[in-house]
Amino acid sequence: MNANPFLAKGYISPELFCDRENETKTLLSNIQNGLDTTLISPRKMGKTGLILHTFYKISEEKLPLTPIYVDIFATLSLKDFIKTLSEAILAEFPEKTSIGSKFMTLLKGYRPTISYDPASGLPQVGFNFVSPNEQEYTLKGLFDFLNSQKKRVVLAIDEFQQITEYPEKNVEALLRTYTQQMHNISFIYCGSKKSIMSQIFTDAARPFYSSTRQLSLGKIDADIYSAFIREKFAPATVTDEAMYYILEWTRRHTFYTQSLCNEIFARRPKTVSIDVARKASREILEKESSNFLQIRDLITDQQWRMLIAVAKEQSVQGVTSADFLAKYQIGSATNARRNLESLTDKELLLETITPTERSYSVYNVFLSRWLEATY
Ligand SMILES: Nc1ncnc2c1ncn2[C@@H]1O[C@H](COP(=O)(O)OP(=O)(O)O)[C@@H](O)[C@H]1O
Ligand SMILES: [Mg+2]
Repeated sequence: MNANPFLAKGYISPELFCDRENETKTLLSNIQNGLDTTLISPRKMGKTGLILHTFYKISEEKLPLTPIYVDIFATLSLKDFIKTLSEAILAEFPEKTSIGSKFMTLLKGYRPTISYDPASGLPQVGFNFVSPNEQEYTLKGLFDFLNSQKKRVVLAIDEFQQITEYPEKNVEALLRTYTQQMHNISFIYCGSKKSIMSQIFTDAARPFYSSTRQLSLGKIDADIYSAFIREKFAPATVTDEAMYYILEWTRRHTFYTQSLCNEIFARRPKTVSIDVARKASREILEKESSNFLQIRDLITDQQWRMLIAVAKEQSVQGVTSADFLAKYQIGSATNARRNLESLTDKELLLETITPTERSYSVYNVFLSRWLEATY
């Protein structure tokens, strides 16, 4: 049976990746012109995919660049950051290679513990720093190593906003000081918390101010996405009605669109009709419903009602307007504002800010559709 072409995680090849041509070009151009990039979008829109796609192009076109990808989502301190970076470098330069053995020698100078994950075989590094100085010296050593490679290094740091959670006070300043000395490394700072990322890179009082080019990742163009979806379903045909439903129901938020298409494809229909698409979407919600119900236990009743209200409205501008509050009985404007903040903080609501308006939607599109259908 032919494999499902709709990925809902990871990256395999350009054939299964839709568009992002301009973004890939911009990213490559920044890299080749010595510019650093800040890549921002809501979660699951396709940032990591874009980075891996760009890395794929670099290797396919044999560009003289060494791409390295580090995800710091799970890091809680600068020490974790250094550990994660070391592991990424080790993974890129295996010990058997001459660069790898040089790196291993350098690393051992910092007296780490090194073990190998039995499942993946990947190296795991542990540090026991005795002073902040030693920690900073190690970090500088890692950057210096990358900076001294013959081939320019592209270092993508995913979930970069995480550095603001570290207990150390000077992390931003320290990273900025080191990174600006590394002329042979192109940095890509990637993040999904727009407000925090904006503060880091556009607040004149902060170290990274104005140091990068900003690249915002939006939704994939509807016509381009339709053509991609039709091509992947072929020889099965997709009716216009079904196509509209797929893109509308998932709001063209990449992960959700991919997931619904994956679910539909799994049924191997001869024709993708609106009935098939609707059935698949219902099935997704059924599978998720126990997860969604758990969310209710984590927030207050008023917050839950607010979530339902926003889901029913799809997207709301005047969340604290008297009409909206009365219609859904969600308390006073003051309370509503507080709940809004809290739900946005928990990433249950997505805040979209344009020059003229500020609107809210339920972040997880499936949760939004489930709330809408259930209440
Ligand atoms: N351009 C694309 N074409 C097809 N699928 C994509 C594309 N971009 C992302 N995806 C899919 O959507 C999922 C979520 O994207 P991801 O890159 O992880 O988002 P983010 O890093 O912004 O949270 C990915 O796992 C991938 O399978
Ligand atoms: Mg990501």
